[in-house]
Amino acid sequence: MKLNPNRLTEHDYDGIREYDNPTPGWWHAIFLASVVFSWFYFMFYEFSPMSSSERDIWSKTQVAEYKRLFGTLGDLKNDEATILKLQGMPDMMQVALGMFETNCAQCHAKTGGGINGVNLTDDHYKNVKKLTDVYAVITAGAANGAMPAWRTNFSENERVLLAAYVASMRGLDVVGRGPEGEQIAPWPTAGK
Ligand code: HEC
Repeated sequence: MKLNPNRLTEHDYDGIREYDNPTPGWWHAIFLASVVFSWFYFMFYEFSPMSSSERDIWSKTQVAEYKRLFGTLGDLKNDEATILKLQGMPDMMQVALGMFETNCAQCHAKTGGGINGVNLTDDHYKNVKKLTDVYAVITAGAANGAMPAWRTNFSENERVLLAAYVASMRGLDVVGRGPEGEQIAPWPTAGK
């Protein structure tokens, strides 16, 4: 390549000269455009409700898969054995957690500690005396609809699963509403 002597810069280090060879305008334009783009992309990715991270996408697919598995469990019955079995299945509890957060957390809080709905994590219950009563309350509601009835919103299987999840929250003793109703006997344990 033939060098243009007019484009040599002033400095000279032991005879070594620097050639003035700036990056071209289009290169700058692409660089600046990518800086501007990254700002918008960052804002979108971090703050837009329309963006979803890989983690979100992963958990959505995971829950879809769990739901498929849930469909393969057959008809679930509201009895102690079924509830205890479901509680021992972390993937099913994950499905129930999703249902709880969407449908129940507005009154009972995500943690189960209660907002205008009662605390589900302590040993005190208003409408529950034994494990299978949880399903009954979810199905029929309580306190004239202050606790809504869910029999039309959820299938029987889903209500049994929700009951298992709600029962599993007992004993977490989350800070929230204080104890209401009466203290009841502990849940039965598996293998008894
Ligand atoms: C609109 C508010 C609201 C929503 C939504 C709600 N609950 Fe409730 N829930 C209540 C209230 C209020 C009570 C207490 C009823 C009473 O005073 O007897 C309650 C009671 C309960 C009880 C009985 C607790 C006890 O001490 O007897 C269970 C179990 C329960 N809810 C589960 C659920 C589940 C599961 C969901 C979601 C599918 C849900 N709730 C959604 C308001 C709500």
